[in-house]
Amino acid sequence: MPARPFLKWAGGKGQLLPELTARLPAQFRRYHEPFVGGGALFFHLWNSSRLRHSAVLSDSNPELIACYEAVRDEVEDLIALLLELRPRFSDREFFYEIRGWDRRPDFAQRPRVERAARTIFLNRTCYNGLYRLNNRGQFNAPFGNYRNPLIVDPENMREVSRALQHVDLIVSDFAAVLERALPGDLVYFDPPYVPLSTTASFTAYTHQGFSETEQRRLAEVFLALAAQGCFVMLSNSYTELACSLYAGQPVHERLSASRKINCDGRKRGMVAELIVCSYEPAAVTSPA
Ligand SMILES: C[S@@+](CC[C@H](N)C(=O)[O-])C[C@H]1O[C@@H](n2cnc3c(N)ncnc32)[C@H](O)[C@@H]1O
Repeated sequence: MPARPFLKWAGGKGQLLPELTARLPAQFRRYHEPFVGGGALFFHLWNSSRLRHSAVLSDSNPELIACYEAVRDEVEDLIALLLELRPRFSDREFFYEIRGWDRRPDFAQRPRVERAARTIFLNRTCYNGLYRLNNRGQFNAPFGNYRNPLIVDPENMREVSRALQHVDLIVSDFAAVLERALPGDLVYFDPPYVPLSTTASFTAYTHQGFSETEQRRLAEVFLALAAQGCFVMLSNSYTELACSLYAGQPVHERLSASRKINCDGRKRGMVAELIVCSYEPAAVTSPA
């Protein structure tokens, strides 16, 4: 049974996977994903036995990494907690009560497995599955009013736990990958995208946001890793800024993808995406 992402994450790469895999290097050493989010490419690589060496998954969102750690190290306790929470999925008051935990001073002292169960429960029951924080770093997506949300799939959780057993999980800024990656490693960057228009901006995965300065800093890290002998792959929106930052890379292509989560959940449709690789892929074939 394949391991599937256990969180719904804005910018999830599900549908771009065939395009990304068609552009992988033939072989690579460690795999690094510094904006892990839902981890779609990591799970795909694991399921297709492409991970010969260990992997490092990181993200600046500490609650997200706490979820991955709890799945890796305490999966049965996590499943039990989620099964306990499941009957409360339609209880609006309960939703706002546990959403409010991060407004309390003792939040960081709560056991990690409880914080992880809260994040997963909120992710499954909040409006549009959007992980959204306000500028104080507090979860602020509203109640979603679902009829029958999937709160936990125990078999998938156990499979995910197996996939994570030899994975390093780190809360860090993306630039820290420079200290970890060695020649021959593969680094996949899936940053918060450059907004298509100023009103289309959805960059609130963490309360710090992701500005043009951050996009430029990321492009510098991309180039430094490539110069260091790593295989570097990146996706972003097909915008003037993103295209210009990676001009001249061996792969610089425009693809179409339908975007599922937007700041306005009603706006779904085809958007152009940019894929960049710092190397010539093993074989660029059109996915079936
Ligand atoms: C587009 S999402 C990744 C989607 C993911 N690849 C997937 O398939 O679900 C971007 C992620 O970047 C993280 N992030 C934002 N700023 C960051 C930073 N400076 N360093 C590391 N991670 C950051 C967010 O917490 C979010 O999880």
